[in-house]
Amino acid sequence: MDNTATPGAFVRDLPKAELHVHIEGTLEPELMFEIAERNALPLRFDSIAELRSAYKFQDLQEFLDIYYEGAAVLQTEQDFFDMTLAYLQRAAGDGVRRAEIFFDPQTHADRGIPFPVFLEGIHAAGRHAERELGISTGLILCFLRHLAPEAAMETLETGLAYQEHIIGVGLDSSEVGFPPELFSDVFDRAGAAGLHRVAHAGEEGPPAYVWGALDTLHAERIDHGIRALEDPGLVSRLADNRIPLTVCPFSNVKLGGFTTLQDHVLPTMMDHGLNVSINSDDPAYFGGYVGDNYIETQKALGLSDATMAVIARNSLEATFLPASVKQTRLQELDDYVASHSA
Ligand code: ADE
Ligand code: ZN
Repeated sequence: MDNTATPGAFVRDLPKAELHVHIEGTLEPELMFEIAERNALPLRFDSIAELRSAYKFQDLQEFLDIYYEGAAVLQTEQDFFDMTLAYLQRAAGDGVRRAEIFFDPQTHADRGIPFPVFLEGIHAAGRHAERELGISTGLILCFLRHLAPEAAMETLETGLAYQEHIIGVGLDSSEVGFPPELFSDVFDRAGAAGLHRVAHAGEEGPPAYVWGALDTLHAERIDHGIRALEDPGLVSRLADNRIPLTVCPFSNVKLGGFTTLQDHVLPTMMDHGLNVSINSDDPAYFGGYVGDNYIETQKALGLSDATMAVIARNSLEATFLPASVKQTRLQELDDYVASHSA
């Protein structure tokens, strides 16, 4: 099927969706320095190179500490707009036709940034990109699980005032020690308000957290889910119900889930019939955007172009787009594949 001249060109341009990207994790060091300067905020790093060299993480928590520190430069609607548009430009260049983007309100509201400042900035960039770049976006409001469930509920209540800008809720931040069950009330409330529900689970946490996300939070997609393979009953549940797993290969290696990309369990997940997509998670911190994740994962695991097309199809099927729009995106993918077949 691969008759393209440039290695990786087939998968970079494959029409796809990105379903697991934290907008705060797209803040590149260059833009972080620029924004810090215009907001007259000090950074504890003297240069972009020094900041980048700090991006070495043993685990999720080490990463989160520096990620929250970096997000603290974001102050104005323009800051959020610039960060989001920069991400969407890169995503569009990687064949992304639909991005369902996480944002962390508590990371900003707890620093005194009003909800409309970050939400309007992110949303306006989405509208701009839809017009100019042909990429559509949906926003997923995430609760920080290391903070109290009551704080999550307050965040949701505030967020519901802007519900027209939000497609769903998610659960992120430090996983182990913060099981999904803590957030059942807030997820029930979000579901009752008509929002989609997703949750990080099985990134570092055990399979029980994936069960909890499904049974207690009624999550429609599982973010990461790599540890689900440890429980055959859970794998059957995920496969039988076509619950999508938004896998992030670079992230899993950078945070110590696997030693190298070659060790990643993505092929086993696919062999089990799971809906697996490839996503970037926090691309500014993990060494690449979604296209890089596709290309390097294909190379490392020796996956065929046909398998990569299945992964792109999984991503589009797993979106929260209306059925008719989803069908159009899937047809574009099929046309792309057909036009690249020998
Ligand atoms: N927030 C940003 N990236 C995250 C990840 N990989 N896991 C949990 N929370 C996150
Ligand atoms: Zn994530």
